[in-house]
Amino acid sequence: MKLIIRDTMVEASVWAARYIAEKINEKAARTSEPFVIGLCTGSTPIETYNELIRLVKAGKVSFKNVISFNMDEYVGLPVEHPESYHSFMAKYLFDHIDEPKENIHILDGNAPDLDAECAAYEEAIAKAGGFDLFLGGIGEDGHIAFNEPFSSLASRTRVISLTPQTREVNSRFFDNDPDKVPAQAMSVGVATVTGAKEVVVLAFGSKKAHAIKDAVEGPVSHYCTVSALQMHPCAIIACDDAAAGELRVNSYRYFKATE
Ligand code: GLP
Repeated sequence: MKLIIRDTMVEASVWAARYIAEKINEKAARTSEPFVIGLCTGSTPIETYNELIRLVKAGKVSFKNVISFNMDEYVGLPVEHPESYHSFMAKYLFDHIDEPKENIHILDGNAPDLDAECAAYEEAIAKAGGFDLFLGGIGEDGHIAFNEPFSSLASRTRVISLTPQTREVNSRFFDNDPDKVPAQAMSVGVATVTGAKEVVVLAFGSKKAHAIKDAVEGPVSHYCTVSALQMHPCAIIACDDAAAGELRVNSYRYFKATE
């Protein structure tokens, strides 16, 4: 695992966006096959998306041959609800870039058969050729996508019950009322994420410091599902100084020096 530590969230976000753009361009230079990317929501990726939008507008990268799959969505929240991940992605990324609509995939949290929707999602990912890169954020408890503590590290896309902690944390988007946060979500599994050729995870702020410590220095454990990245041959965590704040001094120095 690599850890890229920048002084600020904006610097780490710009690093991540340019890294993604470079990967898209590299693939486009060698093949006409699409670049398949996993995308996340939350406050964390917003600055990365802003930089990607700038790069698209400046003609430095194009999403015309990119296929994306978002990692999760709430169950039962209308698509047009401002806090649905459909709305989030349109607002912060898709409305501003050149990715064709038919290349955009987001789980349907209102599908009549949620299990069938999850199975079809995995099939569509496989049909697209699997992920070249998965961009993720993490929860304060170290969850990736909505893979809450005790999710199997071999899990695939499925319906999941959110923990009281996640509903509490996400209530900031729902009038600060945890009861307004849907109790269930659909999420790609840990193995769906780690099946990507490359995984880039963003983490910013001291609220994520404990999760980063567990993910980087702790054991691989279903208690902190992002720790599964320790088993991945090409995983990068891009964070700011605050999120690296609970690492051992020696770990911090090692990552700063080796980068
Ligand atoms: C939710 C999402 C995750 C996201 C996490 C962190 O739980 N399902 O995909 O990484 O929130 O959100 P934020 O970036 O707002 O801290």
